[in-house]
Amino acid sequence: MQEANRLRRLPLYLFTIIDEFKSEAVKKGMDIIDLGMGNPDQPTPPHIVRELCNKATTSDNHRYSRCIDESEIKLREAIAKWYHSKFGVTLDPVSEILPLIGSKEGIAHLALAFLNNDDIALVPNPAYPVHFNGVLIAGGILHNIPIYEKDGYLPDLKSIPKEIVDKAKLLFLSYPHNPTSAVASPEFFEEVVKWARGKNIIIGHDLAYSDIVFDNYRAPSILEVKGAKEMCIEFHTCSKSYNMAGWRIGFAVGNSAILRTLEKTKSYIDFGIFKPIQYAAIKALSGPQDCVRKNVEMYKERRDVLVSSLKKAGWDVPVPKATFYAWARIPDKYSALTSLEFVGRLIKETGVAIAPGTGFGEYGEGYVRFALVESTGRIKEAVKRIKRFLEIVA
Ligand SMILES: Cc1ncc(COP(=O)(O)O)c(C=O)c1O
Repeated sequence: MQEANRLRRLPLYLFTIIDEFKSEAVKKGMDIIDLGMGNPDQPTPPHIVRELCNKATTSDNHRYSRCIDESEIKLREAIAKWYHSKFGVTLDPVSEILPLIGSKEGIAHLALAFLNNDDIALVPNPAYPVHFNGVLIAGGILHNIPIYEKDGYLPDLKSIPKEIVDKAKLLFLSYPHNPTSAVASPEFFEEVVKWARGKNIIIGHDLAYSDIVFDNYRAPSILEVKGAKEMCIEFHTCSKSYNMAGWRIGFAVGNSAILRTLEKTKSYIDFGIFKPIQYAAIKALSGPQDCVRKNVEMYKERRDVLVSSLKKAGWDVPVPKATFYAWARIPDKYSALTSLEFVGRLIKETGVAIAPGTGFGEYGEGYVRFALVESTGRIKEAVKRIKRFLEIVA
């Protein structure tokens, strides 16, 4: 049986290879410290879990979810309130908000909803993989915009050739950025909206890490820019702020016509979100936010431990202002290795798993990503092992 061409066009999913490296190391009896995948390790706060349990006992909540149901009406209202209090942007709960089965689902379906075979999608590279893989699955043409450390990993939209821009229908952005942890200013988003005006390009801004910010940095929404609703939608998730990654709930907000087409696409494919999960998300968004603050403090402590101890071990890594990732250039001594080879050796020789930069696109080569999803104690232990590894001649 041959896979469809749209699947065969996809790049290798590097986390599968990393999983193989890890299982080989486990077979050898090694203790794995997993800083590879951005999978939050902390539990969902108890008041959110309790709401799920309570609502799961009502049989009406076991039925398919419809947009006219109480859960979805209330969820949209809770999202509108949360959004306004966070970004000062007013959203119409019915037409400018769309609940999603996780933001990844919405991002993939946005490409499917809008791209014909000869339509171009502009995607900064490196990126969170669904930004480019969604385009390939949808059968669109991917145009990578390389983003570089020297530019703070912000794309230079003006450098994209006119003939490409003329055929482009979609632009994905995401700041705070996975994998580089780069951040953007309100002025950057103003420039983007100015650039997009009159071009007929949809902008999908993925703001998964809006809450995971440090050192007084605030992550702005692109919708704060005047006129952004003309061409922008923004993706949000409960996965990171509330440790609800496995629950699968997120939402898109912004331009109502774009959201209507995204909703239409989804209506042929899925049946919405389990209602008790919607109620739990309402609790998350409208309940006390000290759980989010605690989460951020924890990630900050882990960040500081990782960066300072790596520095002592001779590996200088920039201090991230947001996200729970640290993005690091492979140490000079190992620069003859690809990022995948480096990560493979690190896992095999130390049991510490991190992500190779090329897992996020070709322009991630030469870099690796640490995810702060283990305790500070385990992070210290990981760096101890890395230090020994770096002392070995490559
Ligand atoms: C930038 C970015 N967007 C989206 C997601 C996926 O979020 P969700 O769990 O809502 O699908 C992730 C998860 O790591 C991410 O890093």
